[in-house]
Amino acid sequence: MAIQKVGVIGCGLMGSGIVQVAAQAGFDVRVREVSDEALAKGTGRIDKFLQGGVDKGKMTAEQKAQVLSMIAGTTRLEDMKDCDLVIEAAIENIAAKHEVFAALDAVCSPNAIFASNTSSLSITEMAAKTKRPSRFVGLHFFNPVPLMTLVEVVRAPMSDEAVLADITAFAQKIGKTVVAAQDTPGFVVNRLLVPFLLDAIRVLESGVASREDIDEGMKRGCGHPMGPLTLLDFVGLDTTKSVGEIMFNEFRERRFGPPPTLRKLVTAGHLGRKSGRGFYDYSGDKPIPIDHQDG
Ligand code: CAA
Repeated sequence: MAIQKVGVIGCGLMGSGIVQVAAQAGFDVRVREVSDEALAKGTGRIDKFLQGGVDKGKMTAEQKAQVLSMIAGTTRLEDMKDCDLVIEAAIENIAAKHEVFAALDAVCSPNAIFASNTSSLSITEMAAKTKRPSRFVGLHFFNPVPLMTLVEVVRAPMSDEAVLADITAFAQKIGKTVVAAQDTPGFVVNRLLVPFLLDAIRVLESGVASREDIDEGMKRGCGHPMGPLTLLDFVGLDTTKSVGEIMFNEFRERRFGPPPTLRKLVTAGHLGRKSGRGFYDYSGDKPIPIDHQDG
């Protein structure tokens, strides 16, 4: 099946990145947000990133205008009715996702493929609730979507092989490298990344080293682009806590359980970069480590 028209549900950090890379690859993209304000914020993020590309000499102003012309925003799920593929990148709440897919099921063609960008919720559970369980897959992108070249294609037990092949071809067309994963919490990358990030917090809690030295150690010692505590602030402490909890509930292994410092920071509303504070303070020009919250 040829995927031509792509719908994206949600224009937040992940959704806007998905919209952008699909439009850059020449797909006709429709994006739905819950309000005009949320839509303007998301499309503004795309505009800003593309302008960064123009400023860096990576694209021309005409190419930027061409990409933006491929994107149509809406607040109505019904506007997804002629999409060949709908990618859901809304909040990580299973009930909300069931609701979105039930509404999409009612308006989209039975041939349309549904995909969820969830990082930890069950693809099988979402697929089973729809009228098209064999045409439902996981399509997990990484933040920042325009710069990260990986996508995980996640199969549920009822996924159709032809659908998986179509989705893999789509991901490649938008410039991503695909790894195939079975539907288990965290798939491949988060299954390995989340315990590592949580361990970095445990190392900090045990007083082995400062925030900066833990981060510098993993950057220079292992070639990671960001140290784990910086990456935690980048991903969002609330997001990591919630992914860790889902994985802990499934596997019952301590290494997936959010440590006290993470719980405390999230309760305090210190969610990382998006709230201005996490393991570092982002209010100035340069992140400053915050030393007083260790558990
Ligand atoms: N337009 C075009 N290109 C741009 C751009 C723009 N607006 N902004 C940046 N770029 C390009 C840069 O020019 C540069 O390209 P070259 O290598 O050709 O010079 C490249 O993108 C990198 O940009 P920067 O040099 O500005 O930034 P950086 O080198 O500091 O890298 C980063 C930034 C990619 C975010 C890097 O720090 C990184 O990889 N961090 C780790 C991110 C990560 O691990 N993400 C996964 C999180 S987990 C997740 O997402 C899953 C989940 O479910 C929670």
